[in-house]
Amino acid sequence: MKYKDLISQMTLEEKASLLSGDTFWTTKAIERLNIPAMCLSDGPHGLRKQAEHGDHLGLVQGIKATCFPTSATVANSWNSEVCEQIGRGIGREAAANQVNVVLGPGLNIKRNPLCGRNFEYISEDPYLSGKLAAGYIRGIQSEGVSACPKHFAANSQEHLRMTNDAIIDERTLRELYLTGFELAVREGQPKAIMSSYNKINGEYANENKKILRDILVDEWGFHGMVVTDWGGGNDFVAGIRSGSHLEMPATGGDSAQQLVAAIKEGRIDTSLVDERVSEFLEVLFDTRITGEISVDYSAHHNIAQKAAEESAVLLKNENILPLKANTKVAVIGAFANKPRYQGAGSSLVNCYQLDSVLDVIGEYNVQMVGYAQGYSHIGQSNVKKCEEAVNLAKNAEVALVYIGLDEINEVEGSERASMKLSENQIALLEALHQSSTPIVAILHCGSPVEMSWEKYCDGVLHGYLAGQAGARALLNILVGAVNPSGKLAESYPFSYEDVSTYHYYPGKEYTSEYREGLYVGYRYFLTTGKEVRYPFGFGLSYTEFQYSNIAVHDNGVTFTIKNTGSCAGSEIAQLYVGHPSSCVYRPKYELKGFDKVSLEPEQSKEVSIPFDNLTFRFFDIFSNQFQVEEGAYEIRIGASCADIRLSTQHRVHGVVANNIPELSEKYFTGEVQAVTDDEFRVLLGRKLPPSTWDRSRPLERNDSIAQMVYAKSWLARLVIRTLYIKKNNAIKKGTPDLNVLFLITMPFRAIGKMTNGALSMEMVDGILVIVNGHFFSGVKKLFKSWRKHRRREIL
Ligand code: BGC
Repeated sequence: MKYKDLISQMTLEEKASLLSGDTFWTTKAIERLNIPAMCLSDGPHGLRKQAEHGDHLGLVQGIKATCFPTSATVANSWNSEVCEQIGRGIGREAAANQVNVVLGPGLNIKRNPLCGRNFEYISEDPYLSGKLAAGYIRGIQSEGVSACPKHFAANSQEHLRMTNDAIIDERTLRELYLTGFELAVREGQPKAIMSSYNKINGEYANENKKILRDILVDEWGFHGMVVTDWGGGNDFVAGIRSGSHLEMPATGGDSAQQLVAAIKEGRIDTSLVDERVSEFLEVLFDTRITGEISVDYSAHHNIAQKAAEESAVLLKNENILPLKANTKVAVIGAFANKPRYQGAGSSLVNCYQLDSVLDVIGEYNVQMVGYAQGYSHIGQSNVKKCEEAVNLAKNAEVALVYIGLDEINEVEGSERASMKLSENQIALLEALHQSSTPIVAILHCGSPVEMSWEKYCDGVLHGYLAGQAGARALLNILVGAVNPSGKLAESYPFSYEDVSTYHYYPGKEYTSEYREGLYVGYRYFLTTGKEVRYPFGFGLSYTEFQYSNIAVHDNGVTFTIKNTGSCAGSEIAQLYVGHPSSCVYRPKYELKGFDKVSLEPEQSKEVSIPFDNLTFRFFDIFSNQFQVEEGAYEIRIGASCADIRLSTQHRVHGVVANNIPELSEKYFTGEVQAVTDDEFRVLLGRKLPPSTWDRSRPLERNDSIAQMVYAKSWLARLVIRTLYIKKNNAIKKGTPDLNVLFLITMPFRAIGKMTNGALSMEMVDGILVIVNGHFFSGVKKLFKSWRKHRRREIL
């Protein structure tokens, strides 16, 4: 134990007080022992340090910081060096502001396109997610601060995110939902990791020893600290026992008291608490920032721009891009003036500088004939705005139309209502199309949308949420100063109904059943042969690439790529591996490597993608470990998952795999949209837990506020109805009310965990008595526990 001596000088109370927050963002300092406070701040695509009052929803503005493109955007670069550069930028700004731990990157698997936080996550594929997350982590930590990958693990939905129980079979958990974290931990070596709000197979992630110790520490070699998501702590003592180190934010000393009591009563060993304290101190002292640190914000702006350039994806180009010099362009769309460049919630950066298209288009060699808003930002139809745009477009050779999702659609705490773009934007595209001026749509949103409107466009450039410097980045691509090289890190289905989790997502009440098993995203579309609008890994360039000469050997695969077009460009080549005669069920093939190569016209390069310990493995539930199955594997090199350019076979020695007896045929064909209870039970290997709320029993600490809809107390029902009315009014106005979203979905215990010690858990129990219909005894209990709480000794 590294800090044995220091710990031996601490009282029990001091030790306990270090392991839960002192304020919203900081831990407790112990001055007599020269232990400073640790400061933690969001977030994944830019620093969100709050100067005064804290909140975890992005309501109070943070200090100014660089807003880099969000992770969903940078994912399209398929370039961990770009992630590393962004990480260095965020890390530098964090260090300059005395932040020890940056709460990011976020790398939950995009199980369904409607998850409200997909814009913050990397991919539907764990290999890509893990490789890029490791880049962010290395970058952040190179500046002396700690990264904190999140949300570990299986945090796939926002609806009831603090109470939902992810019911996942072991193999899917290991191969899809943990593999990205495994790569991030092994290759990024983060000093911290954030446990997720949800339960995994019945246990809160933060109390799940199997996840936090057996896998994270013993198997992957993590030696940092585990911090709860904000308000995600449940049983503090159980969390510490299972491998968690720090509960955030402050609970007013309540949690520390519980730990002291547990030690005194022998419910937890002092030696184990010492171990957690030592591991915590190691992160604290390793990330101590001394001296003045300067930040070159304009250099960071450039990094943000370069990242956006590498990450934009050209989806369609019918001989319209790049624009010729002096092209007369009409700039249309509210987002050209008021950019959509990040999502809402805890990741919201108060950006240092923000470029809009209208600010910077004058620097480009195009003639702008004018600007028209074209549609109302929040989705109402507006014929006049549409007509103005059509009239403007008539004077131009090309209409550049900036479209995308509005703010309400990409927000922490709720799912998107649909995969559609708003009707008024589609109507605008149709009207412009009829006026026959060619259209280039520039799309801004952080997750897939249905694109039936694509037929109206001659070109579509997807900028995702491109950060504060996105405007120039995309204009550079439009005029050909930069050749697009981004490729999609997620699939674009024709319609939402096509998605494998369409019937299962989100889990509505107690549980979220991952019935689709391994068939998420392209794994599903490829195996079932279902067509998509744009496949995973797809992206166009202004040049062409030819693939040849595949050769496979025991350590990897090599092949040649040649730039056969007339301009320099970069190509992302992807390695997919399949095992057609496998005994265990598998997707047709899966991503196991990639490389991005830059080539001048006519230049060729030999590319080599090494195999690693993930290339052929599957998780064998019988031996409870990863194994390599014997057999002939298909080795495919693709320009996307659906555009395989080269393929060969490779024989690998390994074990003979066992199949799960009676496993439904659906898991072999991939047709998993309608898996029955029985079929899922066989995959899961146990009985399904109840999925719907038990309305007959009284509400408890871990039930969600949303459950007050059936509470015994009319007052509680009135409160929840009022909250829903507020929520819906905010949606109508187009401004998400994050507080209300959070309140509705949080559990009762969070009233104690998120009020900075204003209310104790006993007081929460008093509230619950009221909610359960016993008004007077509830008030009495509340009052009694409030008096006790007021008189407590604060640790
Ligand atoms: C989010 C985390 C975030 C934390 C602190 C939570 O609500 O889930 O991602 O880091 O708040 O803001």
